[in-house]
Amino acid sequence: MAAQSSVFQEAIRNFLAPIESYLNDEKVTEIMINGPNDIWVEVAGKIQKTNAKFNDEDSLRAAVNNIAQSVGRTINENQPRLDARLPNGYRIHAVLPPCSRNGTTVAIRKFATQQISFKDYVRLGSISLDAAHFLDIGVKLGKNILVSGGTGSGKTTLLGVLCERIPPGQRVIVIEDASELKVEYEHVVFFETRMAADKKVSEVSMQDLLKSSLRLRPDRIIVGEVRGSEALELIQAMNTGHKGCMGTVHANSSVDALTRLEALAQGADQKLSERALRGQIVSALDLVVQISRFSDGTRRIAEISEVRGFTETGAYDVVPIYSMSRMLKQADGRLSGSLQPTGEIPLFLPEIEDNQIPFGVDKFKKPTAA
Ligand SMILES: Nc1ncnc2c1ncn2[C@@H]1O[C@H](COP(=O)(O)OP(=O)(O)OP(=O)(O)O)[C@@H](O)[C@H]1O
Ligand SMILES: [Mg+2]
Repeated sequence: MAAQSSVFQEAIRNFLAPIESYLNDEKVTEIMINGPNDIWVEVAGKIQKTNAKFNDEDSLRAAVNNIAQSVGRTINENQPRLDARLPNGYRIHAVLPPCSRNGTTVAIRKFATQQISFKDYVRLGSISLDAAHFLDIGVKLGKNILVSGGTGSGKTTLLGVLCERIPPGQRVIVIEDASELKVEYEHVVFFETRMAADKKVSEVSMQDLLKSSLRLRPDRIIVGEVRGSEALELIQAMNTGHKGCMGTVHANSSVDALTRLEALAQGADQKLSERALRGQIVSALDLVVQISRFSDGTRRIAEISEVRGFTETGAYDVVPIYSMSRMLKQADGRLSGSLQPTGEIPLFLPEIEDNQIPFGVDKFKKPTAA
């Protein structure tokens, strides 16, 4: 890794000079290059244009080629897309022309150099104290939790934060497409998928790794992002005694998250009737946490919901337990508002009580309007 890292540093010095200052600036969380002359950065959740430029398309292409080489990947006319994790943990995705019409297009996702901890998450205002406590209890009691949100809303970060609360003494298996999750835990195994490179190097998919995980005595399986037919394996794992599994999915609401999971699971080779699949989904999942990036640039939990079954009309019955209050714009541009109880009591309250966890029914009482 050290050797790979120094090749990467060399590649940065030689080829990424135009964006080096942004790579080194901790406040920048994402760098977006849309061809050599159009470079944007994300700072404090907001996107802004920079004056940075590469000399020309060839220099930008050389930079991308070098990054690919430094991590043992290739990007060329035959394989015009690159998905890679850099030695310092950054995630990079690139697409070459003619697929990208602006010229070589790149996004570099930087992660906080230090893992955002559960405490930081509360301090940053991404969740209220009681809602954090509730999620903590959900993780401790081994509820199966799905984190849902849009692109870049903070799903992976939240999943890492939740993993921090897994009680000691368990065996955790983390499966990801490109390794991003930081999980500080005593007993953890990390798996990463592999793309097929040529006839000798075959693909190892999320589904393959999930199958392996199930034979490796997991207590909990964590799937970085569910985005393919592995959804079915995950649902079935959750339904066969693997408590406390967690994963993220790309969706704009808690109900949409289940619909998305259903659509992904339908792509699996093993075919279930729609009714059977939907039944498995509702019995597999306990909680859905919806996260959002708000217009003031903040990333906050917008809703924590319990999966209860089906409504009378046959729709997924996903009931918010905590949801975001009305948001008002402050003088400094920030949105005020916080996660508040909706008045719904989770069905697992008796389990909370049986475990002598001091989180009584009053914690779910809807606040009276001021
Ligand atoms: N609560 C938060 N407060 C401030 N910054 C955050 C928070 N959560 C995440 N971030 C930052 O936002 C960026 C995006 O986060 P993350 O990668 O977790 O999002 P994502 O939803 O998983 O994205 P993608 O859809 O691309 O997988 C990262 O730079 C991360 O450090
Ligand atoms: Mg992610």
